[in-house]
Amino acid sequence: MNKEELLEKYAFLIEAAKRARVNAVAPFSSFTVGAALLGKSGRVYVGANIEPGVMNLGLCAERTALFSALAQGEKEFEAIAVYAGTEDVAHPCGACRQVFSDLAPNVTWILVGDKQVKIETLDSLLPGRFVLEDLRR
Ligand code: THU
Repeated sequence: MNKEELLEKYAFLIEAAKRARVNAVAPFSSFTVGAALLGKSGRVYVGANIEPGVMNLGLCAERTALFSALAQGEKEFEAIAVYAGTEDVAHPCGACRQVFSDLAPNVTWILVGDKQVKIETLDSLLPGRFVLEDLRR
């Protein structure tokens, strides 16, 4: 599927990420991010970044969505849309890349900016990553 087809197919997911961003709690960074993760069941799980008063305990929108989905019993995932209200896309942090590598490796990443959209995969985001099989080698 080419980029235009993917954007059309997942337009609803992008809209869900934009709506989720409204619920971000980001008093320290003022950088608000929304994510919407599509499970293989067809359900959508949203997340937003949360920054508690003790600053280093915060969590990104992507992991918030993923942990919520797993906690609700979803096991496999198809795509995630991420929107930070910026012109250029916001790229997922290294921690999110590794967590998705372990728990949701097959998602198509749809990074959305107001003037730019990028489609990524785990291979493009985190080449040469650590995988659990490495423990057994
Ligand atoms: N953040 C996300 O939620 N997702 C990203 O892809 C990039 C960064 C959050 C973490 C923190 O709350 C704020 O944005 C600034 O780094």
